[in-house]
Amino acid sequence: MSSIATDLALARECALAAGELLCGEFHRGSSVNSARGKDIKLAADLLAEEAILSRLRTHSPHPILSEEAGEDAGFGAAGLRWVVDPLDGTYNFSRRLPLCCVSIGLCDGDRPVLGVIHDFLGGVTYAGAIGLGATRNGEPMSVSTVADRAAAVICTGFPSGRSYDDASLLAFVRKTQQYKKVRLLGSAALSLALVAAGHAEVYHEEGINFWDVAAGLALVAAAGGTFQTRAAGGRWQFEVIATNGRVSAS
Ligand code: IPD
Ligand code: CA
Repeated sequence: MSSIATDLALARECALAAGELLCGEFHRGSSVNSARGKDIKLAADLLAEEAILSRLRTHSPHPILSEEAGEDAGFGAAGLRWVVDPLDGTYNFSRRLPLCCVSIGLCDGDRPVLGVIHDFLGGVTYAGAIGLGATRNGEPMSVSTVADRAAAVICTGFPSGRSYDDASLLAFVRKTQQYKKVRLLGSAALSLALVAAGHAEVYHEEGINFWDVAAGLALVAAAGGTFQTRAAGGRWQFEVIATNGRVSAS
């Protein structure tokens, strides 16, 4: 097995193990560790993170950046590095809104090259790597062939630090009104998986954290789409546009 295929198998195994724990927490109701502004942290975030990081550390030499734990000392700027969001869509999860997932990406330097996104409530695992292609529950998947913005679905989101002032919301309306449909799922990772699987054409979000999108960007590229990222202020914050490669989002 190539090293990227080995990494893909490991990421899938970690995502499934975390997903099993998260399913239990979802139905039991996970305790709230903190709630500040529009953000929330649950015991479930840490439980899933521990399950993923302990496996990755045992079976892989690559350093890790993870939402709750931060970055390993040796994370650096080059080479292969894991980028993990143990639970994306935490607020949805806390409200038993079944749109959340585990997201495990591998980057080569800053470039996402491999991703596994596990929709543990829906029982759907999206996996792929650049050069290996992408699958949905083991079946090949690819981006859609829709080319016209007026026929396209755009997925976007409001990060917890987003401005809700009139000017900012007006810019949002202008950006989205040329599309057929707009979707705000509350999970950037799941939104990207849906672009990779051909259910939507575009994902665009400003001020999104890298761990929310790393796996999904690799999946979109592995499924035939394209993406661009642009630094947006904070150390791990970006403006991200990912598309099926046919609809122009700029
Ligand atoms: C959030 C989701 C959401 C995005 C927020 C993220 P979390 O991640 O990805 O779609 O709009 O910016 O914080 O906190 O649920 O892991
Ligand atoms: Ca998270």
